[in-house]
This record gives sequence, C-alpha cells and structure tokens, in this order.
Amino acid sequence: MKTGIFYGSSTGNTETIAKKIGELLNADVFEASEVSKVDDYDRIIIASSTWGMGDLQDSWVGALDELKTKNLSGKTVAFVGLGDQGSFGDSFVDALGIIYDEIKNKGITVVGQTSTDGYDFSNSKAVIDDDFIGLVIDENNQSDLTEQRVNDWIAKIGK
Ligand SMILES: Cc1cc2nc3c(=O)[nH]c(=O)nc-3n(C[C@H](O)[C@H](O)[C@H](O)COP(=O)(O)O)c2cc1C
Repeated sequence: MKTGIFYGSSTGNTETIAKKIGELLNADVFEASEVSKVDDYDRIIIASSTWGMGDLQDSWVGALDELKTKNLSGKTVAFVGLGDQGSFGDSFVDALGIIYDEIKNKGITVVGQTSTDGYDFSNSKAVIDDDFIGLVIDENNQSDLTEQRVNDWIAKIGK
C-alpha cells in the first residue's frame, strides 16, 4: 500500500519516530506543512507531539485546517503521538485526539489503535473507546520501550 507519513515536531522527537516508521514501511515522509500531498496516498500516517497544555504541535495548527478541506474518503489513516506522561499526565498526547476528532467523519478507516496498558496518566483526548487512537511514544519517560512499541505497531498495521 502506498503510504505517506506527515509529521509535526518541535524538538525532533516526532521527526525521528516518523522517519523510523518511514524506513520500516518504505513510506514517504513529509512535514505537516506538506499535508496537501495526502491526495497521493491510500494510507496516511499522521504524527504529532503535544505542546502547551494539550495543544497541537505548531505545524499542525495550519496543516490541520488544510487537511480538513481534503477529500479523505476511502483512505486508511493511522496516528502516532509523542508526549510526556510524567509532566503532562492531564493532557497526555492530546494532539492525536484533536486531529482525530476533526477528520473522523470524513470517510476514513482508522487502523493502529493501541492499549493504554503500560502508561501512567490521568487524562488524554487520544483515548477513544478505552484505547489510544494510535501509537503513543513517550521519549521523556519510557524511551527504553520505544523500539518495541514501534515494531509491534508496524506488525499490527502491516506493510
Ligand atoms: C512546554 C511543553 C509543553 C508540553 N505539553 C505537553 C502536553 O500537554 N502533553 C503531552 O503529552 N506532552 C507535552 N509535552 C511533551 C512533548 O510533547 C514531548 O517532549 C515530545 O516528545 C516532543 O516531541 P517533538 O520534539 O516532536 O515536538 C510538552 C513539552 C513541553 C516542553
């Protein structure tokens, strides 16, 4: 399946993960500002960190407005979120939930939901029906788990 990954990253963590996933899936990787290219892909992966107190990563602010104007009908969509459950346990990876909410009714099929087991947080907009809406990575507190989480997720969504 032709896959495009679109990421927003302020200090490079999401960028690193997006590029790793890109290698593993043999997918094309773009910054969120290039989100108009979603038209070229059957499957898109949206990756964002969360900033402020539960805010979108900066690049996604404008990019999400553009994404909302796109015809996403029939596309497969997967989400990847970076956050810090230790310092921001009340808004852990909220950006994923914000983006999901804006596009969930556009005829997409979401894949790659993951269990919240093994994370310690009190609130997250990224939890939908008891699971995270996508892959959740915490480089601040659980970087030792990142490689395994990425590999498990790739196996789950398939190449
Ligand atoms: C000022 C500040 C605010 C943050 N706010 C949140 C937040 O609300 N929720 C969260 O899960 N992580 C939050 N984080 C953690 C970042 O999302 C995390 O460090 C992430 O790995 C950064 O990824 P990036 O380098 O790709 O932007 C915050 C970090 C900072 C420094």
